[in-house]
Amino acid sequence: MKRIVITAATSAIAEAAAQIWAAREASEFYLIARDKKKLARMAENLSLRNPGTVAHQIVIDFLDQRKIVKTIDSIVKDGPIDLALIAQGVLTVQSDASSSLEVLADSIAINATSPAMFAERILGVFEKQKFGRLAIIGSVAADRGRRELYTYGASKSFLETFVEGAAGRLTGTKASLTIWKPGPTDTPMMTSSQGPKPLIASPERVAAIGIKAMERGKRKVYLPGRWRVVMFIAGLIPNRIYDRLSI
Ligand SMILES: NC(=O)c1ccc[n+]([C@@H]2O[C@H](COP(=O)([O-])OP(=O)(O)OC[C@H]3O[C@@H](n4cnc5c(N)ncnc54)[C@H](OP(=O)(O)O)[C@@H]3O)[C@@H](O)[C@H]2O)c1
Repeated sequence: MKRIVITAATSAIAEAAAQIWAAREASEFYLIARDKKKLARMAENLSLRNPGTVAHQIVIDFLDQRKIVKTIDSIVKDGPIDLALIAQGVLTVQSDASSSLEVLADSIAINATSPAMFAERILGVFEKQKFGRLAIIGSVAADRGRRELYTYGASKSFLETFVEGAAGRLTGTKASLTIWKPGPTDTPMMTSSQGPKPLIASPERVAAIGIKAMERGKRKVYLPGRWRVVMFIAGLIPNRIYDRLSI
């Protein structure tokens, strides 16, 4: 039975990933989230749809360093971690972050600091086990700062540099670290956003491609792959034009 850890398990993309893993084989999930009721609904749904699957529910504050250490340590006490997905994120509109430094700091904390803290503990476990696959959800928004979303994009680009370096720790083991880079995805996070609808992917599609990349031990994956091309082209737009675009 695989032992799978998911942070922000109530996220639509994380839930889609959990359903894919559970449908393949009965697994033991350690589902971590901040909202007890939402987590209970997600966990019950996961085990009801996938007989034999066990879903442990863990509610913690995602910025509490001591709780993060305690949680990962207690999971590992009972056995190894085979797979892990770190999914927390908040799509902060820049005007909100610009008018409140508290919003700005909270956004960086949940998009960058919190995933890094969970990842550090899990990477330490993988170094000892010498196996395991970890994915962190970044974003295409990391590739180029956007006037309307730059705090969010910058937090996600922190994760890319983090992954680039941290993956080196796993050299010589069978463990891997992958950053998922979704484009706009049809989840509660996007509900209030004005993204061009034809480019929006389903969470199930994003999770399926991300899982495949994890299995191949890829360092970075665009979800879906067309975003690699879109972001390459976006990177070619000169600043004097880019700065005027409302994107
Ligand atoms: N949807 C997109 O278009 C898109 C594009 C690129 C990247 N992403 C990334 O994909 C990941 C998953 O997001 P999603 O699209 O699946 O959206 P989602 O369903 O809204 O999930 C966001 C998750 O983050 C959790 N979260 C937010 N603030 C938190 C906090 N302060 N403490 C603990 N947990 C917190 C939410 O918990 P609650 O359920 O309790 O609110 C939820 O589980 C995020 O990292 C996001 O940045 C999404």
